[in-house]
Amino acid sequence: MKKTFLVVSLAAFCFSCSNSGDSGSKPAGGSTADNPDYKKGLDLVAKSDCFGCHKITETSVGPAYNLIGQKYENTEANVNLLAEKIQHGGSGNWGTVPMAAHAALSKEDAVAMAKYILLLKDEK
Ligand code: HEC
Repeated sequence: MKKTFLVVSLAAFCFSCSNSGDSGSKPAGGSTADNPDYKKGLDLVAKSDCFGCHKITETSVGPAYNLIGQKYENTEANVNLLAEKIQHGGSGNWGTVPMAAHAALSKEDAVAMAKYILLLKDEK
């Protein structure tokens, strides 16, 4: 199971490399990895402490990002709701462990992170 997952993600990774050939042209919006919201959000999430508590497809201290994407439809209202939660923290939607507040994040960055997470519902 684990092996298959690795091979598939590697294949997807290589595909996105070979695909980003033409310089600076806007992605056509095909795959998730080409989505500008995905790139910006991933960048911010990777720079912050998020991956200390969240994994993409496995529940860790916090819920897996693909499960969050499955729970909330990708709408503007939900992006704002999750951005609020990222900035101010809170608990009770997934269990009793609280999500840490990130008061230093701008609303704009929190929104970008939320958009990224809501693109992950099909990650396996
Ligand atoms: C200290 C551990 C921790 C860190 C660091 C953390 N989270 Fe969380 N996160 C959690 C927990 C625990 C929950 C579940 C909270 C709940 O049950 O409502 C959660 C929930 C969430 C949710 C779902 C909120 C909801 O209401 O359903 C999102 C989105 C999220 N985190 C994004 C992030 C992002 C983005 C970062 C980095 C800026 C981050 N988290 C950093 C622990 C963490």
